[in-house]
Amino acid sequence: MSRYLRKTVAALAGYVPGEQPKNGGFIKLNTNENPYPPSPRVLSALRRAADRSLRLYPEPLSDSLRSLAAADFGLKPENIIAGNGSDELLSIVVRCFVGPGDRVVYPVPTYTLYDTLIAIQEGEKAPLDYPPDFSLPEALYGGQAALTFLCNPNSPSGTLVPVREIERLAGSVTGLLVVDEAYIDFAEGAEVSAIPLIGKFSNIVVLRSFSKSFSLAGMRIGLAFAAEEIIAGMMKVKDSYNLNRLSLVAGVAALGDRAWMERNVARIQRSRRKLARGLKKIGFQVCPSQANFVMARREGENLGGLYEELKRRKILVRYFDLPGLKDSLRITVGTAQEVEALLKELESIPKGL
Ligand SMILES: Cc1ncc(COP(=O)(O)O)c(C=O)c1O
Repeated sequence: MSRYLRKTVAALAGYVPGEQPKNGGFIKLNTNENPYPPSPRVLSALRRAADRSLRLYPEPLSDSLRSLAAADFGLKPENIIAGNGSDELLSIVVRCFVGPGDRVVYPVPTYTLYDTLIAIQEGEKAPLDYPPDFSLPEALYGGQAALTFLCNPNSPSGTLVPVREIERLAGSVTGLLVVDEAYIDFAEGAEVSAIPLIGKFSNIVVLRSFSKSFSLAGMRIGLAFAAEEIIAGMMKVKDSYNLNRLSLVAGVAALGDRAWMERNVARIQRSRRKLARGLKKIGFQVCPSQANFVMARREGENLGGLYEELKRRKILVRYFDLPGLKDSLRITVGTAQEVEALLKELESIPKGL
């Protein structure tokens, strides 16, 4: 067992299943869930599907969901694999393409799961610091790596890199480029996604999640888009029945009601503007976010105390006790009322806490 695995197992030993925070009375702005419910069409499809047919295994290749997604994105089902959340797809892609000693490059700070997955495979982590404006570090281009990760919009910054930069990157790296688009539906403007690049580059994988814009974090649904050979390889690595029957039903119904998702995204974009304005007014620097969260910073100040005080006041935000991030909080964009409540509490907490 590797040193990393021993540490992970030891950490898990203290974990009691079922001991999840109950959310009771908390405003939960810490894990970038959607504050609005899933489409009523999803809920009624789930109710209809919760019947005797649950004794049967689900579709092994998630064909119904993949065909619908293929039609939506102008691709073939063979270009798509469905996962138990995009986290599973990240895990599959790393298990497929990263072995011991293989180099993985990614701009940081970013989604911390990449670190974990590389460590499990005993790959070589090669993080590159983002410049202060969160544009792509120049050293990322032409990188000699088995895999390059790009989270776009990035977490925790919320910043978006234009597709033309991703195109330049895909053409310049030696290995696979994985673009994690968990938050892309919250980005403003047309043509922000890297999915159209799949026809042009055989080394690009784009990941999507149903957890954020489609309000389905609890169902665990994700999709990966790539050239057919890459998808065929990933299919070999996935579990036989990685999506359950209900998740498949929910995913299909969600794609059938994009209007619901888009309406909620528009509400979140409005609240995002309000939240950013409010935070700036009370002295935070705020990264220009194209996601459903914002990164708020007070340069050089440790915001651990502020995070604790908000928790005491029943508001959960995300604090990263990591070098370079201690002066920042990542705040999920909640409902208009939640945003208002957060700003009100923040205004009343003395600075320097
Ligand atoms: C950047 C990023 N990618 C992927 C995921 C995982 O999403 P899913 O719920 O689809 O596994 C998250 C979840 O927070 C995320 O922040």
